[in-house]
Amino acid sequence: MQAVILVGGQATRLHPLTANTPKAMVPVLNRPFLEYVIQNLSRHGVTEIVLAQHHLAGPIESYLGDGSQLGVRLTYVIEEEARGTAGAIKNVERYLDGTFLALNGDIFSDLDITEMVRFHKEQNAVATIALVPVEDPTAYGLIETDLTGRVQRFLEKPDPSEITTNMINAGTYVLEPEVLTQIPSEKQVSIERETFPMLVSSGRPVYSFPSSGYWMDAGTPEKYLQLHRDLLSGKSTWYTPGVDVEVLIGEGCNIDPTAPLIGPVLIGAGCTIGEDSVIEDSVIWHGVQVGSRVRVKSSVVANNCTLGDDSTVEGGVLGDHVTVVAGGRVGLGSQVESGETVG
Ligand code: GDD
Ligand code: MG
Repeated sequence: MQAVILVGGQATRLHPLTANTPKAMVPVLNRPFLEYVIQNLSRHGVTEIVLAQHHLAGPIESYLGDGSQLGVRLTYVIEEEARGTAGAIKNVERYLDGTFLALNGDIFSDLDITEMVRFHKEQNAVATIALVPVEDPTAYGLIETDLTGRVQRFLEKPDPSEITTNMINAGTYVLEPEVLTQIPSEKQVSIERETFPMLVSSGRPVYSFPSSGYWMDAGTPEKYLQLHRDLLSGKSTWYTPGVDVEVLIGEGCNIDPTAPLIGPVLIGAGCTIGEDSVIEDSVIWHGVQVGSRVRVKSSVVANNCTLGDDSTVEGGVLGDHVTVVAGGRVGLGSQVESGETVG
């Protein structure tokens, strides 16, 4: 079976982390996010993968190449203009043959793809949508089903007043080629706002496949940090960084022995942490220089930042190449643009 992964979004909510890095390449436990999406496909035997790209396309192909290192075959398609989630799938139609999977590229999940495909075939569905429960469905696609799991309604980004269930679209679909015939070509089309509601209202069999496994849309810095907390505490059943690993450190780091690292902590390659600096509940990307007596807590620090001696970053998100001056302070909720000097 083939899969299309949608990796063409602007990733504005992950800003400033995605100013220079496509969302798919944002590091999770020091590996690009997309590797986990691909790995969850390949462990279910899905190895023919089409990447539907638009924004910041170059770095993905230069890093993953033909996919052979991950045991898959990757095909890259770039949209000149963003086509939306259904338009992007339509745009790669020429590479697809038979029943296929389509996935949002920003989701880490334990979804049992083998079981989902089996269920889809058993129901003779034209589309099957994976569902997960969330506390607040307003940031997602709300899905109402009947008792047999058949989808009755698909409501993207519902108003609080429209919430009737906590089950939402988990961003993974099994689709029949018939769905492709329902998407107009050469234009922007949303699978959530147009294609699925249209299939449901015209009475086509659209089914849901609820999953209780670990699931996270890492689309905001808070959720990105939460994904690290979860993976480092072993919440995923198929991906564990190791037993009791709360602190992971990349290659070539120089960490002063007096500096406490209070997990969950992730440090990328080539970082320096100076004397008596405390790093707690944070994700630090590659090449970050942390001076002495610095305090970093519940924050995300992107590539090549410099944190001066005695500075504090707490509850902040720093883009690439940010400098926090000696004694400077980045407080709760601050997002610092790539290249800025603050403090
Ligand atoms: N190629 C391409 N072209 N990809 C796109 C485009 C496009 O024009 N627009 C978005 N994408 C990709 C994004 O890169 C992402 O991987 C995926 O499509 C979904 O877009 P998001 O922008 O992340 O959507 P969302 O998180 O607000 O909502 C979606 O995901 C939720 C689950 O996390 C929807 O599918 C919701 O219904 C769903 O609940
Ligand atoms: Mg998303």
